[in-house]
Amino acid sequence: MRRARLFIIGRDIGYTLSPAIYTKALNSSIDYGVVDAGDIEEAAAAVEDCREDPACIGFNVTKPYKVAIIDYIDGVEGEAEEIGAVNTVAKRRGRLIGYNTDWYGVIGPLRLHGYRGVDEALIIGAGGAARAAVYALKDTVGRVYITSRTGTSAVRLAAYAEKLGMEAVAGRARPEFYEVIVPRVGLLINASPASGSRACPIPVRLIKRLPSGAIVMDMVYTPPKTRLLMEAERLGYTVVDGLWMLAYQASRNIEIWFGLAIPPERLRSYALNALGEAEKS
Ligand SMILES: NC(=O)c1ccc[n+]([C@@H]2O[C@H](COP(=O)([O-])OP(=O)(O)OC[C@H]3O[C@@H](n4cnc5c(N)ncnc54)[C@H](OP(=O)(O)O)[C@@H]3O)[C@@H](O)[C@H]2O)c1
Repeated sequence: MRRARLFIIGRDIGYTLSPAIYTKALNSSIDYGVVDAGDIEEAAAAVEDCREDPACIGFNVTKPYKVAIIDYIDGVEGEAEEIGAVNTVAKRRGRLIGYNTDWYGVIGPLRLHGYRGVDEALIIGAGGAARAAVYALKDTVGRVYITSRTGTSAVRLAAYAEKLGMEAVAGRARPEFYEVIVPRVGLLINASPASGSRACPIPVRLIKRLPSGAIVMDMVYTPPKTRLLMEAERLGYTVVDGLWMLAYQASRNIEIWFGLAIPPERLRSYALNALGEAEKS
């Protein structure tokens, strides 16, 4: 019998750790591929390929196709419907059903690190990952500040947050904005690509102005300890790295595809190993 087949669809995703994590987690009993699709037509062709292949049990979707892919599958379930984006698809009696597990990748690790809710939070970035974060925080945050490069996408995401019942304030990613906001927030989430070993999404000097006890999460995981997290940790704040998000959503995906419960801690260790291997090569 052929091994179960899965893959991830995205654009410019040579960096993805998904094949390494899922293959290791499922003892190489699956064949997990990467489809680097230049446009939505190519992505749609991969969807059809899965539909026609009895060995294909589903796939993951990443940027920039998480919203557009919905037109090519047969339905969405649960949170995916409310978030309007899909990152995981499973074949159910021949039908391709979309799910969203990114939001769980946000709230799961936060809870693990002691998060119980805050009056005010800051989300940096207003793309798909930030949208999942807004959804994840809807019941535990009073007011959310959202910034983006242009500000326009932040305004759109703030409207979504308000629809979910939060107070929301949008702004452009500017030092003057952060100067006022950072001292107010008990939770700061970077959901933008503006983070790295040197790059920091907010001026580094402002990190120490976070209230004591604040939690800082960075979705970027290359490297796992970004400049933002390194400085925040040095100052005594609780930090949550992007590998946690990856691991929590992967654990949910494995449950959706196989009905298996694999602890996120274990999946995170596979991701760390894969990252180490990738850096060596
Ligand atoms: N750890 C995980 O499992 C995981 C999962 C999903 C995503 N991620 C990471 O999260 C990041 C965002 O992903 P995405 O899919 O949401 O990407 P996306 O859809 O491309 O959105 C990126 C957002 O960041 C904003 N942005 C860019 N530079 C900024 C800056 N300097 N300050 C503030 N905002 C800035 C953009 O603003 P404009 O809208 O104005 O352009 C945009 O809203 C990526 O680095 C991705 O790799 C990690």
